[in-house]
Amino acid sequence: MSAYKNYAVQYGRPVDDAIEDRYGETDGLVRQDNAVIDHMLMHRTIRRYTSDPVAEGDFRTAIAAAQSAATSSNLQSWSVVRISDPAHKREVNQLCGNQRQIEDAPLMLVWLADQSRNYAIGEAYDTPREAFDYFETMMLGTIDACIAAQNAALAFEALGYGTCFIGAVRNNAEALSTLLQLPERCVPVTGLVVGRPHPAHDTDIKPRLSQGIVVHHEVYRVAAGEEISAYDRIMSRFQEKQGMAAHGWSSAVAARLGTRSALHGRDRYMDYLRAAAMGYR
Ligand SMILES: Cc1cc2nc3c(=O)[nH]c(=O)nc-3n(C[C@H](O)[C@H](O)[C@H](O)COP(=O)(O)O)c2cc1C
Repeated sequence: MSAYKNYAVQYGRPVDDAIEDRYGETDGLVRQDNAVIDHMLMHRTIRRYTSDPVAEGDFRTAIAAAQSAATSSNLQSWSVVRISDPAHKREVNQLCGNQRQIEDAPLMLVWLADQSRNYAIGEAYDTPREAFDYFETMMLGTIDACIAAQNAALAFEALGYGTCFIGAVRNNAEALSTLLQLPERCVPVTGLVVGRPHPAHDTDIKPRLSQGIVVHHEVYRVAAGEEISAYDRIMSRFQEKQGMAAHGWSSAVAARLGTRSALHGRDRYMDYLRAAAMGYR
C-alpha cells in the first residue's frame, strides 16, 4: 500500500484534505485534481519502518527519477552511496547521531556533491581546472545532489515507501568520508533513509508557514511577529495531536540555531569542505 493511500485510509479523509493539513486551516487554496501534486502535498517524514527490504526494481526506478532531475549545465555533479549491509549501516549511524530511523530502515542513501568525476575529466583533457577551486563549484554539486535526492524521495513515496532525510551525515563529515572511501572533491550533503512505513506508527502531515510568509511579491517583506505566532499556535495544535510537547515552532527554531553545540559537529563542515576540495575560495 502506498503512503498516499495510507493517509486516506488511516485518517478516512479525501486526499485533497492534505492541503488543509499542510496549513492547519482552510484558506481558500485551489485544489487541483492532479495525482503528482496530491502526492507531493501528502509528504511526511517517516521514522519507523518494517523490516521489508527495498526491492531492487524500486531502487532502480527511484534512481532513474533522481537522474531525471534537472542538473546544472548537465554536469551531473552528484553521486549516491547505497548502504544496506546492517553492520556497515551501524558504523555510518555512529557518525550520524545514532538515530533510530537509520538503525530501523533497510536502506540508507548518502547523497554526495561530487566534482571528483568532472575533475578527472579535466585532468584527462589537461585543462586548467580553475573552477574547482571555488566554493561555487561545490555549491553547484550540492544543489544538484539535493534536487536529485528529493526526486528519489518522491519516487520512493510514490512506490509506497517512507523516507527520512538525514542532515546528520554532515555531523562528522570527515570520518564519514573516510568510512565511505570518498575521493577528493566528493562530499556528503544529505542522507535519505528508506523503508516501508510501519503501519502502527504513521505520522500526520506537518503544517508549514503560511504562503503569505514565504512568498514575497516583487520585493521582500519582513513577516510580522503575529504571523509567526499564528503558525506557532497551528504547530502547537499539531504537536498536541501527535502526543508531543506543544511548544510551537519559533522556540524550536531559536534553540536549533542558538548554539554552536546544537550543530553537533557541523560547525566544522566548512573546514572539512576546504580540506576535501583542496582549498576553496
Ligand atoms: C536536508 C534535511 C535533513 C534532515 N535531517 C534529519 C535528520 O537527521 N533526522 C531526522 O529525524 N529528520 C531529518 N530531517 C527531516 C525533517 O526534520 C522534516 O522534514 C521536518 O521536520 C518536516 O517534517 P515533514 O518532512 O514530516 O513534513 C531532515 C530533512 C531535510 C530536508
